[in-house]
Amino acid sequence: MLQDSFKRRFSYLRLSLTESCNFRCNYCLPNGSACDNKAAELTLTEIKHLVKGFALAGTSKIRLTGGEPSLRRDLCNIIETVRGTPGITQVAITTNGYRLNKDIDRWLDAGLTALNVSVDSLDADTFHLVTGQDRLPDILAGIDRALALGLAKVKINTVLLRQYNGNSLSRFLDFVRDKPISLRFIELMQTGDNGQFFAAQHLSGRHIINQLTAAGWQLLPRLYNAGPALEYAHPDYLGTIGLIMPYSDHFCDDCNRLRVSSTGQLFLCLFAEQHQNLRHLLAQDQPDALVDFLQAQLQFKPLSHQLANAQTGQTRQLAMIGG
Ligand code: 5AD
Ligand code: SF4
Repeated sequence: MLQDSFKRRFSYLRLSLTESCNFRCNYCLPNGSACDNKAAELTLTEIKHLVKGFALAGTSKIRLTGGEPSLRRDLCNIIETVRGTPGITQVAITTNGYRLNKDIDRWLDAGLTALNVSVDSLDADTFHLVTGQDRLPDILAGIDRALALGLAKVKINTVLLRQYNGNSLSRFLDFVRDKPISLRFIELMQTGDNGQFFAAQHLSGRHIINQLTAAGWQLLPRLYNAGPALEYAHPDYLGTIGLIMPYSDHFCDDCNRLRVSSTGQLFLCLFAEQHQNLRHLLAQDQPDALVDFLQAQLQFKPLSHQLANAQTGQTRQLAMIGG
């Protein structure tokens, strides 16, 4: 298995399929996507070679991200290819939900095993304000459809925003009362482009934890390889509430993930200053060469991001590499 110099092991790859996005989330792409590298996106064949190499290096879980991954016309073929790779047991997608209601049946048929949908507000008008898309009801219908089809792993991502959802915890709790969903609050992260917005809207997840604890929610034990969320449960609720707090100490200690951009650049960290081009290793079916390269690069993975010092690396917005 891939291991870095701090003995962290990497079994999880987040693979971006495109930088394009059709939403305008105010913390990410407030002016919309100006994606100009569509022509350079990895092809299905390159993705096949990439995933084969990662699987050989011990990766078992792949998350398809973006931009908005469902803008790729060949998404179902990609899901099928990834799922069909020996060693890969989990294929997840993180989506803004734009095509969810229409396409979830096909994604599941292709072999999808887990779904993350971004929902920053459960109020339709606020959702529209944050994302630039007046689509909350359709997205919630898509989530219900995924549950009705029996998908066991459904998560919602909610970026904590002081003005837009900082006081809405009770509404989110009501939502997960009868739904087996894990809803995760993510602390807003500063990126190269969103400095002012960050200063105005960043809210610590501590506020949520304090309210949860006061209402009888309890921290669940951390599962092996579970990722960075603190997960809370309550006997009266079917769903759980997670907190992702990248500004807390030791957030990076359990890092289990690597990232590859839609053009085949390896990012050792979300906020890395540098990235490494994998493309020359993807044209041919040569997984051993890819594994050697990954192993060598991992020695350079830093212990932690430097977000507390406002060092955001090259990441202008997370649409570049999928959060
Ligand atoms: N801070 C925190 N979360 C972000 N996301 C996008 N940009 C940011 C940011 N600056 C979230 C999206 C999506 C996930 C992939 O990352 O809302 O849910
Ligand atoms: Fe698009 Fe996701 Fe960025 Fe929103 S956060 S603009 S859905 S890439």
